[in-house]
Amino acid sequence: MIEIRDLIYTYPNADEPALKQLSVQFPRENVFAVLGQSGSGKTTLLNCIARFLTPTSGSIHIDDKNIADMTALEFRHTLGVVFQRLNLFPHLSVLRNLTLAPEKVFGTSLSDARKQAREMLERLGIGDLADRYPAQISGGQAQRVAIARGLMLQPSYMLLDEPTSALDAQTTQDFAAWLTELSSETSFIIVTHDLPFAEMVASHGVYLSQGEIQATGNVADILQQVQQPTS
Ligand SMILES: Nc1ncnc2c1ncn2[C@@H]1O[C@H](COP(=O)(O)OP(=O)(O)OP(=O)(O)O)[C@@H](O)[C@H]1O
Ligand SMILES: [Mg+2]
Repeated sequence: MIEIRDLIYTYPNADEPALKQLSVQFPRENVFAVLGQSGSGKTTLLNCIARFLTPTSGSIHIDDKNIADMTALEFRHTLGVVFQRLNLFPHLSVLRNLTLAPEKVFGTSLSDARKQAREMLERLGIGDLADRYPAQISGGQAQRVAIARGLMLQPSYMLLDEPTSALDAQTTQDFAAWLTELSSETSFIIVTHDLPFAEMVASHGVYLSQGEIQATGNVADILQQVQQPTS
């Protein structure tokens, strides 16, 4: 479980906090959704959980450990992140994109890392992409490669920021099915403003509004609660 306790984050020079004393628990769901309109604080929250931002006050605990106290190695085992801009290394093949972190972080030998990477790509149904470069694959394929790369470190949790933003409707549906399959092993936390996608993949989530939790629980219920009349 990821537990956020009294989290406040204020950007330098900002007048008011982007996150206003948030306290919320993300149970270890297969897929958990963080929803909310643009500017509500979703990415800020994700960046605090990923330790890219240090909270102004409050704390974040994963499986009862304060993330501030984890070593870099322990943290990499606990949590992976795939950003909206996938940050695949453009000058490296898909295979090399996958082998780099295990080599650098875990000290895995190149031959072992290659073997693991090929297995991972096969398992995720993208084995044929191993020798291509990021510019030679589609947006949906790149999304999968970025997740495959994150999974190489076998994290317990993986955060995905706006995973469907570059995908068309059909690819989004395929991606949802694919994510659901993977989620029996890794818990995914998806940050998204794509509500139909959230409903497809997640049963539970939270809805942020102006740096505060507006609703939490079952995704279908949340969407009913927050939906504005459209007339
Ligand atoms: N680097 C920054 N400096 C100052 N303020 C920032 C910075 N980044 C974000 N903010 C502000 O913090 C608030 C939350 O932004 P955040 O990026 O977390 O929203 P979001 O919910 O991810 O939005 P979106 O759906 O558009 O990605 C917004 O008011 C935003 O303007
Ligand atoms: Mg964002």
